[in-house]
Amino acid sequence: MPTYRQLLSERLLAAFLKANITPPEGLIIEVGQASDSRFGDYQSNAAMVMAKALKINPRQLATTLIEHLDVADLCEKPEIAGPGFLNFRLTKETLAQRLSSLINDDRLGVPAVNIPQRIVIDFSAPNIAKPMHVGHIRSTFLGDSLARIARFAGHHVITDNHIGDWGTQFGMIIHGWKTRLNQEALQKDAIQELVRVYREVNAEAKADESILTSCKTELVKLQQGDAENLGIWQQCVKVTLDQLHEIYSRLGIHFDHYLGESAYNDRLAPLVENLLNEGIARISDGATCIFSDGLKKPEEDPFLINRDGKWEPAPCIVRKTDGGFLYATTDLATIDHRIREWQADEIWYVVGAPQQLHFRQVFEATHRRGKKVRMIHIAFGSILGPDGKMFKTRSGESVGLIEVFEEAVERAGVVVAERELGDDEKAKIAEFIGIAAVKYAELSQHRMTDYKFSWDKMLALQGNTAPYLINAYVRTRSIFRKLDGAVTLDPTCEITEDAERILTVKLAQFGEIVHDVLVDFRPNLLAQYVYELANTFHSFYEACPVLRSEGTVRNTRLVLCEVTSRILKKGLDLLGIQTTERM
Ligand code: ARG
Repeated sequence: MPTYRQLLSERLLAAFLKANITPPEGLIIEVGQASDSRFGDYQSNAAMVMAKALKINPRQLATTLIEHLDVADLCEKPEIAGPGFLNFRLTKETLAQRLSSLINDDRLGVPAVNIPQRIVIDFSAPNIAKPMHVGHIRSTFLGDSLARIARFAGHHVITDNHIGDWGTQFGMIIHGWKTRLNQEALQKDAIQELVRVYREVNAEAKADESILTSCKTELVKLQQGDAENLGIWQQCVKVTLDQLHEIYSRLGIHFDHYLGESAYNDRLAPLVENLLNEGIARISDGATCIFSDGLKKPEEDPFLINRDGKWEPAPCIVRKTDGGFLYATTDLATIDHRIREWQADEIWYVVGAPQQLHFRQVFEATHRRGKKVRMIHIAFGSILGPDGKMFKTRSGESVGLIEVFEEAVERAGVVVAERELGDDEKAKIAEFIGIAAVKYAELSQHRMTDYKFSWDKMLALQGNTAPYLINAYVRTRSIFRKLDGAVTLDPTCEITEDAERILTVKLAQFGEIVHDVLVDFRPNLLAQYVYELANTFHSFYEACPVLRSEGTVRNTRLVLCEVTSRILKKGLDLLGIQTTERM
């Protein structure tokens, strides 16, 4: 089912052609959702943009366009506003038809993309024995939601958790494992115990040179394949992955693959050889580096950096003087794998903004290697504590993903404590609401803004929060519960009231919003939509009695309730938030 935006854009383009005006190349004729519903449902500034390009009068052009516009089956006669805006108001008839089709459409009015892409989404990616930090929280939810949305839009999506399971931290962990590991604590909470060991050894190594040396020796032994150290490393990876699986499953997050950094160890030496042979990298002071090729403007060249007004080399090191490989080397090998094994057309990296330079360099190196893949760094800002400073837990530690959830569920428990429910039921609802609240607080923000983490706000029953939206869904269900199954919905609809009209327009726009999210990777657009839908439904429900009405009016209103219910559920699901029938 094409959206109204698609239909109206096509018709507008046709009007241009009928009027013998060919849009100059690169100029896109577009109709968009109206910003103010008083003037219509859709609007376009195409006449103004085109008039400017052709140096003619915009209002005149708009008038000519309207003469050639064939939209009578969709809207009232379009109006011209201000300097040449075109406003479109959909007719009640077309909306009634749309509503009838929505009730029978599994895709809820969301058209599938014309050309599905094979997209690898790289997100979450915590590091072993290092605490998951706030950045991993954002990456986990943004990545999961984008994966759900891209899949629903019709792409072939492959999710891959690029765990940091290899690296210099293992020198310290192995030293700590041999000297201070508490087995009991490891059984209870492996991630926490490994983090403790790592932190303590790290602190000691700073104060005591001999400890640092011992850690380095352990690392070299691991890298050379020493059986004991390899065994310890494997156990660290295993206990961590076991626990991660549990956490992800509690959060409803699924990965198709868990290919950590270590999966590429064998590929790194041949890759660096290849980079040297191809002339993409060269040896500099004993290290193997990728330098600028001088073909880009300095501002766009990721291998140059501006220091005091002068452009200086910022090479990407792929092999150190001591022969060790780096984060960038692994990422280059990972890209090869994703193209070769998974035929990736696109790779999306949901990773914090501080890694921007790393990705610019890796992407540019990949292009220079002649690989045809679209790579995107989907960056995000920080989460701040309620005081606007870096986010800390109650005990003053920097916040990890697990702690946030424990606290969210505990606080949600306080909220549901007064309800008249059994303890089991209460615990279930608290778990469900706590997780949903944190996810929604994340996804309702623009990903680049640093947002303040406020427990009270995110758990509130009113406002733009998960509890409010889940409750809105529950209310749509309760309407049908009152009917006790004694209803069959007929696709015949007729729209009479303004509130019905407005709600139908909103429902039809679901198909536009889902695709808008993927333009700039912004699930917050969908969150905003779901919130507006809940409010629009609320106004409709206040204005139009449903169960007390009769005939086609009653049927239409029930269809509105049902479609709203389905879109609320699907919209929340695309944000990774589950709904419940009762609360
Ligand atoms: N483990 C990294 C970190 O915690 C994130 C990895 C992101 N993915 C990648 N392919 N580099 O910062």
